[in-house]
Amino acid sequence: MFQKSLLFFLVCIASTTLLANHQAVVTAHPLATQAGMAVLKKGGNAFDAAIAVASTLTVVEPYHSGIGGGGFWLCRQADGKTFVIDGREVAPLSAHSKMYLGDNQKAIQALSKSGGLSAAIPGEVASWAYLNQKGRLPLKDALAFAIEAAKQGFEVDDKFASFLQLRRQTLEKFPSTQKAFFKDGQPLQKGDALVQLELAQLLEVLAKEGTEAFYKGPIAEKMVSFVQKNGGIWHIDDLNKYEVKIREPIRSEYQGMKITTVGPPSAGGIAVLNALQILDEYEMEPLSVADKAHLVIESLRRSFCDRAKYIGDPDATDVPVKMLLSQKHANEWQDSIDINKATKSQSLSCGQTETKEGETTHYVIKDKEGNIISATTTINFPFGSGMVVEGLGFVLNNEMDDFATDVGGFNGFGLINTSINSVQPGKRPVSSMTPVIFETDDGIGALGTPGGSRIPSMVLLSILESKHSNDPNDWVKKPRYHQQYLPDLVLFEKEAFDKETQQALMLRGHKLLNAGWEYGNMQALYIDKKTQKIKAASDPRGIGEAQVE
Ligand code: DON
Repeated sequence: MFQKSLLFFLVCIASTTLLANHQAVVTAHPLATQAGMAVLKKGGNAFDAAIAVASTLTVVEPYHSGIGGGGFWLCRQADGKTFVIDGREVAPLSAHSKMYLGDNQKAIQALSKSGGLSAAIPGEVASWAYLNQKGRLPLKDALAFAIEAAKQGFEVDDKFASFLQLRRQTLEKFPSTQKAFFKDGQPLQKGDALVQLELAQLLEVLAKEGTEAFYKGPIAEKMVSFVQKNGGIWHIDDLNKYEVKIREPIRSEYQGMKITTVGPPSAGGIAVLNALQILDEYEMEPLSVADKAHLVIESLRRSFCDRAKYIGDPDATDVPVKMLLSQKHANEWQDSIDINKATKSQSLSCGQTETKEGETTHYVIKDKEGNIISATTTINFPFGSGMVVEGLGFVLNNEMDDFATDVGGFNGFGLINTSINSVQPGKRPVSSMTPVIFETDDGIGALGTPGGSRIPSMVLLSILESKHSNDPNDWVKKPRYHQQYLPDLVLFEKEAFDKETQQALMLRGHKLLNAGWEYGNMQALYIDKKTQKIKAASDPRGIGEAQVE
């Protein structure tokens, strides 16, 4: 008995001190990385650093994420306990399943993509409250860097300027957005200085009064009247009643790797775990690039088929997570794969199959206590709804477009709209966001990326790459390809398939589409268990920065 408890004690010591020597912050923007590191150096832990990163991203990357959005924080505490902060936005309480339908019963696309009706109730600030409970510093210390960045200003970079151009037509409709991001009637350009005093002021109120001030009182009232003025249906109750959900992560194993990720209302984690379980049947190593890609594509096709059929908000509908992650289910999908021929997506018939045919951020943080956070957060499209809230200086999401606005139609990422994800009051829309933490005998990895429906395929390819390399630089730069059930085609980055591979895939019946651009912006880190050293990497496609010390 004594020996057993001694052993248990030693194992506990090992697991708590194992990860204690180094710290790292990897984000999509150098200023957000600096903010996270500054807080760690000040004695904060990963939870404090996550608030510093998130608030600074609100300032410097308002096109990707921020106060007006939400997301998922996958947390692994120093004691090994894991949990998910689900700070996903919710539909307003007056929302209903037909709110976007025109006379012909098809969705009026513009309504869920921009303006007042497109914005769901944000969960970002409520998530900061939960992070703050786990932190070591007062909220004001975690927000200090962001407040300074908003006041002092920074230079608009290429990405910022090009996203302003991309959504220009929408953005210029809103005087408050023009005021924030335009100069002399033109979107800000690379090199212009951006000072955001209204946003700084809002962050200062939160620092002083706490995160509640966002959901109750004058700030909440300002938001509601602004949204209503712009055609929305928010009510003060929507903000008063918003709650984060603390959820159990979902887990699975793939060839000795223990993978932990986020379950519903995100469909991303189930898609990745499901695809890995299907792939587990095959010995991938000896296969040609085309053979491997064929199997990955076929497993993605099936896991996205499941998404259409089974995934919705788990608080509003029954999601059969156990069944979806069962060996039996994986075996059934394996049996349906023909190694020589592409399956027609229509033949799998998940949900409605009549044919028709963003922006987000990820960061990973590890502190010296041994806590790890892998977080993906978003406002959906670049600059979300296009609306900067008058007097408050932040961008509101257009997350309502992640719902099935018309069953049988398709959302902004071409994902088929199925009734399990229909709009209901207070419901969370299904997401693709897939923050991951995985562990092998040798080390622990954490990664994630933006990219809408393409997130799970990027995460899957990087997990597969980690079988060959422990260097996160290799994971984040890996060329990408994607299949999502419908539309029935394979999107690929130019570098992913050479001519020969393209030919081999087409011969099997795959329809290929060269993306013509590089997508995703992955942030990743790896901790070597033996040396405790951390390697971290920011996607070369973006402007992010990894700092390790
Ligand atoms: O939750 C989702 O799946 C989407 N709102 C994410 C959007 C996104 O990643 C856009 N980034 N490029």
